[in-house]
Amino acid sequence: MSAFNVALDGPSGSGKSSVADTIAEKYGMEHLDTGAMYRALAWKLDQMKITPESGDALVEALKTIHLDIDHDSVAVNGQDVTRAIREPNVSKLASLYSALPEVREKLVALQQKIASKKGYILDGRDICDVVLPDAEVKIYLDAAPEARAKRRHAQNLEKGIPSDFDEVLQAIIERDRRDTTREVNPLKISKDAEFLDSSNLTFDQTVEAVEQLIRKALSKESA
Ligand code: DC
Repeated sequence: MSAFNVALDGPSGSGKSSVADTIAEKYGMEHLDTGAMYRALAWKLDQMKITPESGDALVEALKTIHLDIDHDSVAVNGQDVTRAIREPNVSKLASLYSALPEVREKLVALQQKIASKKGYILDGRDICDVVLPDAEVKIYLDAAPEARAKRRHAQNLEKGIPSDFDEVLQAIIERDRRDTTREVNPLKISKDAEFLDSSNLTFDQTVEAVEQLIRKALSKESA
């Protein structure tokens, strides 16, 4: 197991999760997809009919929800939700509930506990500054909204999901707006992070660029 952690932030659709998976495999690390945790919690709260405005009921509900996550599955109170949380309506729910301080507090604590064992790559929005401020490697992976929409649209068609490019682009722009303007831990580029724009890179080129940044950060660490 690697004795370092990698923090990988960026907007939705920047390819963070697939890149993190590949890097984890190459370096013998564990990948923790923190977005999947927000999705799972949002899915469960919605099932429980707890709205983001529920106040005390939301606080009580959160105490009853237990998440189990590993590199290829997520379960909520023992129920496997790995596929359910990828539905487009859950993307919107996750974006809404992730703006709530109570939700963030619960998940940040869980993420910190998991990563304390080291050897983790966490991808998300607030990893560099909030979840793992002491991570040995910090990267912000960006891509222009159009490039991200193009990838998401192609993925949808590949999976046989009906897709309209303009709708996909609008949904990405709207999610960026919510994720960057929320009051608690908004998505922003950490001043400690290495910035990487993957708009014009293939997946393999992006992985290679991330590997270079890891090597650079680790050589600085050991210098
Ligand atoms: O990465 P994703 O699209 O699966 O994330 C789902 C939502 O969760 C997204 O709207 C932003 C939010 N999120 C967050 O606020 N903080 C994180 N560390 C990860 C995701």
